[in-house]
Amino acid sequence: MTRKNPNHIFFNPNVNTLKPYVPGQQTNDTEYVKLNTNENPFGPSPRVKETIIQFLENSESQLRLYPEPESDSLRKVIAQKFSIRDDEVFVGNGSDEVLSLCFLSFFAERGTLSFPELTYSFYPSIAKLFKIPFSTFKLKKDFSLDLNFVDQKSASIIFPNPNAVTGIALPVKKIESFVCKNPNKLIIIDEAYADFNRASCVPLIKKYSNLLVIQTFSKSRGMAGLRIGICFGNSYLINGLRSVKNSFNSYPIDSLANIAAISAIQDESWFEKNISMIIEIRSYFMLELEKLGFKVLPSSANFVLATHPVIKAKVLREYLNLNKILVRHFPNTIVSNWLRITIGTRENCNLILTVLKQKISEVK
Ligand SMILES: Cc1ncc(COP(=O)(O)O)c(C=O)c1O
Repeated sequence: MTRKNPNHIFFNPNVNTLKPYVPGQQTNDTEYVKLNTNENPFGPSPRVKETIIQFLENSESQLRLYPEPESDSLRKVIAQKFSIRDDEVFVGNGSDEVLSLCFLSFFAERGTLSFPELTYSFYPSIAKLFKIPFSTFKLKKDFSLDLNFVDQKSASIIFPNPNAVTGIALPVKKIESFVCKNPNKLIIIDEAYADFNRASCVPLIKKYSNLLVIQTFSKSRGMAGLRIGICFGNSYLINGLRSVKNSFNSYPIDSLANIAAISAIQDESWFEKNISMIIEIRSYFMLELEKLGFKVLPSSANFVLATHPVIKAKVLREYLNLNKILVRHFPNTIVSNWLRITIGTRENCNLILTVLKQKISEVK
């Protein structure tokens, strides 16, 4: 927000100081190959489309009704899949909304929040919105997380596993040991990419009441456009989260997202196939990037972070952009000379490899 505009006096003063999160570029130009926001190249289970079409054909009039306020039918199916109780599941309008509600419910006015120096850049934006003081902890030289670096005085901790931007995962055992040793700190594990690592902290919510786990339908289930996020935790915490949600928006999940998400959860075989394909393409893509001279971090997510020893990341990003390929570059961070590239289809990966090869051969 700019203070130069005289109307800035009408705002909550905090709003004038916000630094909003800037998402990766979206485009309607289908000529672009989008490898910049970690969307799933294969989309959702075909059952999702069938369910939405059936819903609109058979009960279009349902759209005049409000959706289920607590998304009970969806929470029930999620709870069954994870072998937990319905009251240990909360759903919201994308995990960004779930994160915002968690920051407000569990982090605000409760001391300092701690997160890694390099992570999902939405965290500092939400913290500023709710005036949550935060500190960041250093990564190791190889960019992996070390929970020994967390500020001992912090009241709460959040980090993605695998970590955003790097794709590096911590073993669940290490997270469990940290959660167990810090019973007075509230710890949130953001598992946006955990399905691509086939490892999750969700079962731990039964054992530890200081742990919440957040997941999304945007990545592994290919449904970023429908906006569905989940929070798993002890029923007391989940109940509190519901109170906050009901003080803000009673109906975060619309009727179409609700039925679509249920269908997605029920199509386990599509989900498994989708994840396997992405993991397989990831291994291929990492190897091929290395053959071109790139250094690639060991990714457990649906993206890789790579740097070239000679050509600057900014130059490569611009060259790819000219060739209608979008990737993510993070200037002014410790990975300013790295590119984050989403795992697309094998064809997408071959295309980007060809374009990168062209640029590298120009420089030689
Ligand atoms: C680590 C992490 N958490 C959460 C999200 C938000 O996902 P969504 O709001 O689409 O559920 C993202 C999106 O890129 C992410 O990278």
